[in-house]
Amino acid sequence: MKIKVKVPATTANLGAGFDTFGLALSLYNEFIVEESNSIEIETYPKNEFLEKPENNLFVHVLKKACEEKGKTFHGVKLKQINNIPVARGLGSSATAIVGAILVSAFVNKQELTDDEFFKIAYQFEPHPDNLLPAWKGGFTIALMDNKKTYYQKLDFPEDIKAIVAIPDFQLSTEEARKVLPKEIPFSDGIFNVQRASLFVSAIMEKRYDLIKIAMEDKFHQPYRKKLIPGFDDVIKAALQNGALGASLSGAGPTIVAFATENFDKIGQAMVLAFEKNNIKAEYKILETDKEGAKVEIL
Ligand code: HSE
Repeated sequence: MKIKVKVPATTANLGAGFDTFGLALSLYNEFIVEESNSIEIETYPKNEFLEKPENNLFVHVLKKACEEKGKTFHGVKLKQINNIPVARGLGSSATAIVGAILVSAFVNKQELTDDEFFKIAYQFEPHPDNLLPAWKGGFTIALMDNKKTYYQKLDFPEDIKAIVAIPDFQLSTEEARKVLPKEIPFSDGIFNVQRASLFVSAIMEKRYDLIKIAMEDKFHQPYRKKLIPGFDDVIKAALQNGALGASLSGAGPTIVAFATENFDKIGQAMVLAFEKNNIKAEYKILETDKEGAKVEIL
């Protein structure tokens, strides 16, 4: 049996919703899997690092997911099509984690519960704000408490598109978390909880006039922006050219802007602002994905 799993990119945080909000986007990694007694990996575009089993996250997660079910993992023939740039804040590792867990459940004819999913997924990445939208699609709000994940999935307005300006350098989530403070001022906590709450209601009620202020943040962006040359200029360029709001995408370095029009104008302005700071970048205009990861038999 040959099966394919297609998993969307995600943008996490969306400004004030640090470690909480996530949104699935219409850019996909695909994993085509056949049973095998050895591990064979092909990657498109070719990536020799990922073709080594010891470096391949999908293979590691698949093995773990099979073992959790008491099955012995003998191997896999994997064709991995990577369309999501790696270590850019667009959830590329979440696609491998989600894809492998879904493939294992499908092959083992297992109904996957939330608890089973997160038990495996968190061993590789403890961030539901990327994992959930990659799995379920849409706009997700999640928290983890005492190892249990509580979440809601909401529809994101269809007329809003995400313009992602992707700089040509990588930043690992680990590096981007190292610069965060251990504590924040009480007033910053109030600042973010007000904005995050407003963001959810603005999305539900389509109050687009509130999105700009609702995406402001004091939890992570002020600390992370020193890792992203031109951060303030790119956000400003997006807003000045008609974006409803803009923020760092996940842990960065990609910057995401939301808009209902002027998509190319906004994207070009964001790329130009990066270039003025000596950073090459490209932009993509993406829809939001409603459905999340999909498994099919080929
Ligand atoms: N919320 C995480 C962070 C990234 O900003 O560090 C998403 O996995």
